[in-house]
Amino acid sequence: MPEAVGVGLVGFGTIGTGVVKVLLRNAEVIEQRLGFPLRLLRIADLDTETDRGVDLGNVRFDSDADGLIEDPEIGIVIELIGGYGVARDLTLRSIERGKHVVTANKALLAVHGREIFDAARKQGVDVAFEASVGGGIPILRSMREGLSANRIQSLHGIVNGTTNYVLTEMEETGEAFEPVLKRAQDLGYAEADPSFDVDGIDAAHKLTLLAAMAFGAELAFEDIPTEGIRGLTPLDFEAAEEFGYRIKMLAIAKLREDEGRERIEARVHPTMIPSKDLLARVDGAMNAVAVTGDAVGPTLFYGAGAGEMPTASAVVADVMEVAREIHRGSAGRVAPLSYVPDALQQKPMVPLGELVARCYLALSVRDQPGVLGEIASILGEHQVSIESMIQKARDHAAGAVPIVVLTHPAPEAAVRSALARVDALPAVVAPTRLIRIEEEL
Ligand code: HSE
Repeated sequence: MPEAVGVGLVGFGTIGTGVVKVLLRNAEVIEQRLGFPLRLLRIADLDTETDRGVDLGNVRFDSDADGLIEDPEIGIVIELIGGYGVARDLTLRSIERGKHVVTANKALLAVHGREIFDAARKQGVDVAFEASVGGGIPILRSMREGLSANRIQSLHGIVNGTTNYVLTEMEETGEAFEPVLKRAQDLGYAEADPSFDVDGIDAAHKLTLLAAMAFGAELAFEDIPTEGIRGLTPLDFEAAEEFGYRIKMLAIAKLREDEGRERIEARVHPTMIPSKDLLARVDGAMNAVAVTGDAVGPTLFYGAGAGEMPTASAVVADVMEVAREIHRGSAGRVAPLSYVPDALQQKPMVPLGELVARCYLALSVRDQPGVLGEIASILGEHQVSIESMIQKARDHAAGAVPIVVLTHPAPEAAVRSALARVDALPAVVAPTRLIRIEEEL
């Protein structure tokens, strides 16, 4: 039988604990599938006191991450410490020492991916990161392998479980954002500092990786237009239902070809989607990614996007794949982002202003004659055509009435110019909320 592959784990938190459980609990099936065993040899974490509830047997556990990456018995380092700083340093030093790296760290790869993948290529080692997008869903492997014959046309992902949980709860209970977020934190769905999730940063990190996989496009994460869910109100969910939509936080990327020029449309924002669409039925903390390829047509991947065991499932699958490559002698030759490095390019992005979409607008106005007419005139002057305009019940406390407007498809630049004028009207008491509508998923 081929030799066992030695594995070291840095970061023994929730996901790390899941990884240890899967490696120990499923050792037999893992060996049956690989034809050789994986040996978890060492774990490093600054916290060596907390009882993780797993029997580590002979596995060495201490705080010596440096010793772990120097250990000649270890072929694969699993990085689960998260963040950009220490994780980057540890990953690059592991690669320098000739170790293969498995990580769940999307923030690290979205920001420092080029540096890390280049270093790995020079050293002839693998960097695997299935767990970084969609938790337990094998979406990256599916794009790299199962869909690799396609020109990918579009992808729409619910890739952040925290925001999907909050949106589902707001819709079901009619409550405002803050109490629902608080409940999500109490239940452990949302972090104490929820900004990466609710402001869309986590989803934008994941979209950076998905866009590279889908289109060979190197997008700078900070160039992706990103809006979070903090501004949504119960009225938006009520109106969405009346119009036949649900609100989902989507990461969207599309290949746009205009007059032979290839550009990438990428954005992260709360989106109204038809309630009959399969993505609209993805509730709670679940994730789903819809990918359309020119040959395969529409596909949909669904599953748990976070959590100890689903994420561990993806991490250990990566460890198995890398271990297989080590035994085949082909490690370091798999294109991690699904395109060979020379084919990965910085492709131009479509500016948001060029986006043509139907829009939902939520205005807050003083209840006085002529206001609706003024708003309709301004929208008309900017060629934004109104499909529906509804005045909701008067909000006495605010001394204002909510008006919701559904537009026909219009360029975002035109809608924004019109809204700048609308919001400057004396009768408009708060900035208008705009939610983009996505009909074709
Ligand atoms: N914070 C992420 C989410 C999980 O809420 O989906 C890790 O990617």
